[in-house]
Amino acid sequence: MSERGVILEQLRLKANPYSGKLISFCGLDGCGKTTLIKRLEVYLSERGQDVVLTKQPTNAVRKSEIFRTFMDCENNSAFDYLSLSLLAASDRVQHTNKVIAPVLETGKTIISDRYFYSCLANLRARGYKDAKWIYEVSEYLIKPDVAFFLDIDVETAVKRVRSRIEERDRYIDMPLQYALRDEYLEIASLNNGIVISTDQSEDDAFEKVLEALNGHF
Ligand SMILES: Nc1ncnc2c1ncn2[C@@H]1O[C@H](COP(=O)(O)OP(=O)(O)O)[C@@H](O)[C@H]1O
Ligand SMILES: [Mg+2]
Repeated sequence: MSERGVILEQLRLKANPYSGKLISFCGLDGCGKTTLIKRLEVYLSERGQDVVLTKQPTNAVRKSEIFRTFMDCENNSAFDYLSLSLLAASDRVQHTNKVIAPVLETGKTIISDRYFYSCLANLRARGYKDAKWIYEVSEYLIKPDVAFFLDIDVETAVKRVRSRIEERDRYIDMPLQYALRDEYLEIASLNNGIVISTDQSEDDAFEKVLEALNGHF
């Protein structure tokens, strides 16, 4: 890998031109995204905000054979991760511009469970550090007003995932989780992300979410 290849660039997401706010949550499986998103939805709704929840990638990708193979199987050699990444990036362009943007235009708040940052983190964590196209694609996407990156040590995240009955025996690529955690932290620092540690109580983490949103509502 070239020296240049490992350098992480800033994404070129465009500023949100609409009155509605876009908030994203990224981080490892089990880091607490769904938990804090639900709390934030309740909190904002109780204060009169119109809140819409959404998720990336969409089911079109989640249900694809290539995505399922990378998620569920140790042997994914029949597939090229670059192909999945391009598919996921395409899905995010469609979803951001045709699903998220119209909601923002109406002035509603939209909270996205994962966002384009996850695409970059996964691509880099799988070793594709030379990919320049991902920065170019980012120019077509809206930058979240607030991008949260929830951070927790890999062992705790995996324990939390395993505590869900349906995921008790799920295949988890451990080396990938370590690499992903590092990538998320670097991406956050370069792209004005808000890193929140979820190794304390949910209340503590949620308090930090609200502090970061102070001034946006
Ligand atoms: N500080 C915290 N913030 C968020 N979740 C926490 C925290 N501490 C413990 N948890 C627990 O961790 C688990 C996180 O699961 P979940 O929210 O589904 O994560 P994700 O959506 O990121 O996979 C939940 O069982 C939650 O109760
Ligand atoms: Mg979740």
